[in-house]
Amino acid sequence: MSKTKYIIRLETEADYRVVENINREAFWNLSVPGANEHYFAHVMRNHVDFVPELDFVIEIDGKVIASIMYTKSKLIDEAGTEKKILSFGPICVLPEYQRKGYSKILIAHSFAKAVEMGYDTVVIFGNPDNYVSRGFKSCIKYNVCLAGDIFPTALLVKELREGVLDGRKWYYHESKVSELLDDEEKIKQFDAEFPPKIKAWQSSQEEFFIHSHSVIKS
Ligand SMILES: CC(C)(COP(=O)(O)OP(=O)(O)OC[C@H]1O[C@@H](n2cnc3c(N)ncnc32)[C@H](O)[C@@H]1OP(=O)(O)O)[C@@H](O)C(=O)NCCC(=O)NCCS
Repeated sequence: MSKTKYIIRLETEADYRVVENINREAFWNLSVPGANEHYFAHVMRNHVDFVPELDFVIEIDGKVIASIMYTKSKLIDEAGTEKKILSFGPICVLPEYQRKGYSKILIAHSFAKAVEMGYDTVVIFGNPDNYVSRGFKSCIKYNVCLAGDIFPTALLVKELREGVLDGRKWYYHESKVSELLDDEEKIKQFDAEFPPKIKAWQSSQEEFFIHSHSVIKS
């Protein structure tokens, strides 16, 4: 970790557009040409599953450079028992500050707060490269799957309290918050409020395609 002084704090309303811009810059052309994560951040804050207590930013010299946002989700076992858990995303760091350990700080800080709040599990869809060093493991290791007993490669699980998932089969139910991304016209209109940016292909989009279309067979 660099020795630069940073502050980690909750996002305030004054940060909203700055955070949306960080999302736009960090995600632009990464998974698809363009990006929608800035719109997602914009609308997510008003969703019933959004967790404002875990809406952290990192500030350096008065400038916000990174953000993490959480939503409530759940695991349901085969007997129908429901367990309230957390998911995060988007998480982003301004490109010029990436690979300096800031996402590690955001994740560690928010996990500690999540434990204080009584949560013991975090499940995300993400690129394993970014998260295995944070202790996330493949969903199949915890018997966590989607309806139809599908174990996606990108479905990653972190127990905040070791052993809490206890080996029984769990079905992951993410928040309906992602339905907010269905309206492409609104995303386009929102993006037009930012400076123009060129949509282009880059190889990370193929990586994203592979990860998001892969499942692990037991
Ligand atoms: C992914 C992202 C949030 C990581 O934040 P960061 O501050 O750059 O990451 P850190 O420096 O804290 O590194 C965290 C770990 O991930 C690894 N890592 C980070 N980016 C990586 C990359 N592009 N490829 C491989 N490993 C990567 C680091 O090596 C580190 O692992 P280590 O603990 O074994 O050293 C940031 O790069 C980003 O905003 N990227 C664009 C948006 C994005 O992809 N968000 C996540 C969607 S799943």
